[in-house]
Amino acid sequence: MTDSSDSSLRQRAWELLDNNAKKGPGYFYIAPSNGKYPHQWSWDSSFHAIVNCHLGRPQLARDEILTLLSNTLPDGRLPHLIFHDENLASFFERLLRRYWRQPGRSPLVQPPVVAMAAKEVWDATEDAGFLKEALPFLERHFEWLHRTRRSDESALVSIISPWECGLDHKPAFDPLMGWLARVPFGLYIALYTSEMRLARLGYDLGEVARRGLFNVREVLFNTVYAVGLEALASMLAATGDSERSERFAARGVEVERAILSECYDPNSGLYFDVDANTGQQLREPSVSCLLPVALHTVPKQRCERLLRHLTNPGEYWLDYPVPSVPKNTPHFRPRSRTYLWRGPTWINTNWLVTGGLRRHGYSEEADRIAESSRGLVRKSGFREYYNPFTGEGGGAVDFGWSTLAAIM
Ligand code: GLC
Repeated sequence: MTDSSDSSLRQRAWELLDNNAKKGPGYFYIAPSNGKYPHQWSWDSSFHAIVNCHLGRPQLARDEILTLLSNTLPDGRLPHLIFHDENLASFFERLLRRYWRQPGRSPLVQPPVVAMAAKEVWDATEDAGFLKEALPFLERHFEWLHRTRRSDESALVSIISPWECGLDHKPAFDPLMGWLARVPFGLYIALYTSEMRLARLGYDLGEVARRGLFNVREVLFNTVYAVGLEALASMLAATGDSERSERFAARGVEVERAILSECYDPNSGLYFDVDANTGQQLREPSVSCLLPVALHTVPKQRCERLLRHLTNPGEYWLDYPVPSVPKNTPHFRPRSRTYLWRGPTWINTNWLVTGGLRRHGYSEEADRIAESSRGLVRKSGFREYYNPFTGEGGGAVDFGWSTLAAIM
C-alpha cells in the first residue's frame, strides 16, 4: 500500500542515496554514511542496490554491484570493506588496516547479500549483459566460501572474525573474545588485535582451527549464504546453465538442512551459532536466532516457534521491533553507544526478518515490523540504529541501509 507519506519516504530515500553516492575512476558506490562510513562496505552496498532496484533505479544498483564484485580478491574473497579513495580514510583507519595484503581491500568478508542484490538487478532489468559480468565473480566468491570456509564435513561456513557477520558486538561472541570483552571498550581492542593475528595467519581457516581461534558457524551469515545460493542458482538457470544452477541449488538445500539441524535448539525453538572448535552452540539470543525464518524449507511448526519469540513483548516485540538482542537477557543495552548490536533496532535485520515472514505467509507480523520501521524513520530520520522503546535514533545520520524502510 503506497499512501502519500510512503511516497515521501521513498523520495527521501532516493535523495539520501544520491547524497551518499561516490563516483571516481572505475567505481560507483553509495557510502553507508558520508561522515562515519565513507567507504564501500559489502553488505551495505548490496542493501543500497536492493533499495535502488525498488525505487526504479536498477542502473545505479547494477553499477554499485559491479563495482563491488570487480574488487573481488584474486582468491575469490569479496572484501567486506573497500577504500576506493584513500583520502577518505582517517589516519587510524590507515594505521589499523596496514596489514591488509591488498591495499584498500579487506581480506575479511561480510554476509553475501550481494547475490540477493544481483538477483534484484536481474529481475528488474533482465539484462543478460549484467549476468555475464556478475555471475563469474559471484560464482568465484560462493565457491571460495564453500572451499575455504568449511570444516569437519559441515555444510555451514565459518566466520573467523565477529566483523564478518556484520553484527560485530553480538554478545554470543563474548566468551570467545576473552577478558577484553568484559572491560569498557575492550571488545574493540579485542576485535582489532584478533584481526591483526589473523593477518599473520594469512586469514586461513585451517590455521585458525589449529590454534582454536574464533571460528563460528554464525546463523545470520549462513542464512544469507543459503538464500544467496538459491539466488545464484536461479540466475544461472536464466542463462541456460542448468548443470551449474543445479549444483548451487543443491548446495543451498544442504546449507538450509545444516542450519535446521546444527543450529536448532529444540528446547527454545531458536537457532544458535555453533562454535566450530567445540561443536557447541553459543546459546546467547540475538536477532540472528530468528533469521532462519527466511529459509525456504523451515517447517511450519518451527516457524510458529520462532513467531512465539518474535511476538513476545518480553523478548523481541517491543514498541519498535526487532531489537538486536531480546529484552529478557542481561546483555540487553538498548541505549548503548559503545557496542551497537546489543539492543538497538536495525533496519537491515528488520528487512531480512520481514522478507522471511512474508515468505511463510505471516503478513500481519511483517506489516507491523515494516510499519514500525517506517515510523522510526519518520520520527528520527534515517539513522544507523534506533532505541526499540522510544524510537530515538543513534549512530550515523543519513545512514544508507535504513532506506530499506521505504521499500519494506
Ligand atoms: C558497522 C556495522 C557493519 C556495517 C558497517 C558499515 O561496522 O556493524 O555491519 O557494515 O558499520 O555500515
